[in-house]
Amino acid sequence: MTGATPPRTRFTVLTLFPEIVRAYTAEGVIGRAVRRGLVAVEPLDLRPFGEGRYQALDDVPFGGGAGMVMKPEPLARAIEAAGPASWRVVLSASGRPFRQADAERFAELEHVVLLCGRYEGVDARVADRYMDDAVSIGDYVLSGGELAALVVLDATLRLVPGVLGNAESLREESYQAGGLEHPHFTRPATWRGDAVPEVLLSGHHGRVAAWRRQEARRRTAALRPDLLAGDPGPDTVPGSRPGRSEES
Ligand code: ADE
Repeated sequence: MTGATPPRTRFTVLTLFPEIVRAYTAEGVIGRAVRRGLVAVEPLDLRPFGEGRYQALDDVPFGGGAGMVMKPEPLARAIEAAGPASWRVVLSASGRPFRQADAERFAELEHVVLLCGRYEGVDARVADRYMDDAVSIGDYVLSGGELAALVVLDATLRLVPGVLGNAESLREESYQAGGLEHPHFTRPATWRGDAVPEVLLSGHHGRVAAWRRQEARRRTAALRPDLLAGDPGPDTVPGSRPGRSEES
């Protein structure tokens, strides 16, 4: 921290594994931004909010079935301890897909609270009462929300002005431009018999740009045709509040 100005964007991560969050956010681009005070990431350990002798955070599901559910009261107290938030998000395989547009939106916010579920998930009443949003990072089930929370905060914080060294590196990236990126090459020009595309050695900026656009389109058509079709997916209602009840 420089101490001069408060961080532009702050994440509080409610988790049973604060060390996972600490370890990741101490490294690389995010670590540097945190040390410079541009952004802040604060893990909040859920365990001390647990109940009883064993500080229990989970209990059996009403209605029966396998697995455990995170208890509402400890979560409520942890969420309240995190303080006022611009946006509260629970990470869940049952959430809407997280996309680049969400990262862009989150990067404008002052304080984002991320709740990492463990076990089978969190008591639905907590989501109804406190959460603004539920997001999933993909169609697979993780053993907890921590990796998903790190994905969300990494994708978001790198968009905060000043976090990335070179503004150019944001401009042409995949998704930022609405499709996949063109392939990249560096020296040597021929590596183990494979030469880089001739046009990249031409020094002709117009031809290089045209080639990159063409390769980006080709790649997008082959790997992610849904992006070319302009398919917005099931999830693009900004500010949607899944789980909120009618009356709240
Ligand atoms: N928790 C478990 N699986 C998840 C997923 N795919 N995305 C976000 N949180 C999760």
